[in-house]
Amino acid sequence: MKNLESRGLRVQDNQLYILDQTKLPHEEDWIKVGDYLHMVNIIKELKTRGAPLIGISAGMMLALSAHRGADGAQLEMEALALRESRPTAVNLMIIIDRLLKVIRDSSFTCTKLIEEAENAFAEDVELCRKMGEHGAALINEGDNILHHCNTGGLATVGIGTALGVIETAHHQGKNIHVYVDETRPLLQGGRLTAYELDKVGVPYTIICDNMVAHLMSLGKIQKVFVGSDRIALNGDFANKIGTQGVATLAHHFKIPFYTVAPYTTIDPECEDGSGIPIEQRNPDEVRGAAGHFGKVIWSPTNANVYNPAFDITSRDIISGIVLDRGLYSRKMLQDGKLKEIFNT
Ligand code: MRU
Repeated sequence: MKNLESRGLRVQDNQLYILDQTKLPHEEDWIKVGDYLHMVNIIKELKTRGAPLIGISAGMMLALSAHRGADGAQLEMEALALRESRPTAVNLMIIIDRLLKVIRDSSFTCTKLIEEAENAFAEDVELCRKMGEHGAALINEGDNILHHCNTGGLATVGIGTALGVIETAHHQGKNIHVYVDETRPLLQGGRLTAYELDKVGVPYTIICDNMVAHLMSLGKIQKVFVGSDRIALNGDFANKIGTQGVATLAHHFKIPFYTVAPYTTIDPECEDGSGIPIEQRNPDEVRGAAGHFGKVIWSPTNANVYNPAFDITSRDIISGIVLDRGLYSRKMLQDGKLKEIFNT
């Protein structure tokens, strides 16, 4: 296998390593991945996460199993187990189905499967670069940008989706500043986005999720950029819980709101947001917090909890979706232009 390197995943000397994102930002612990069951747990526990990176992690795991000599039947079984590891981010299903096609083909070889997984890695880097260029064109000198969750190099194998746009604008010298939503319950913003912006040198300020309306009302936010875990054909999309609230506020205060995603996040089987499955997670994530410091519970230990990991934002309240092929404005989404991508 080729040696490959990204912020959250590495292939080195035919071994696969995942940066444990649950320990960031205070500990950079690279996990050497054992077998596919190990990877299933790594994905379930969000040690690797972010829609595109979940897909590439699962794909590279299958490539590693192929390299180790697994036959077609074994690879098929592993692929199906990996495909189930998280339900909302469609990039996982799309990459697994792409690899299953190779496995099921009569001319299947392990080399072909490894090549396909490596192609998906290279493609993700390029998709991120393109989204970065298209999205940065929407940013003005001196903008204060609100960002939710984490969508950078820790969520993809390139520079990221929404955070890639921000990084690109920063490198273009646009003098931007980012308000980082901490993103309860797992704090992907306060832990991971802050860590990435620190590394890249983009000025930022962390805020609690419930401070957004206040900041917007004071005119302190000029644009919002977020990522997505699954986009329906009509333009509705799922993203980290809290996104729908941010979008509703941005709509109310007339602040441009964009979601940024590669075409691999569009689900051609899904007509609108009502068809997107929402992952429900462990109640302890809301009862307390966990990280490099261990685990704390601050609520009553048996408190009732509701913990959906994602919510659905309607295309009707956003300014548009920045794809690798360019901006799809709200009007274009309402005119069914996303569907056309799959009809051509
Ligand atoms: O539960 P997570 O951390 O995997 O959720 C991640 C998000 O919601 C991101 O915003 C999304 O994957 C966009 S990724 C570039």
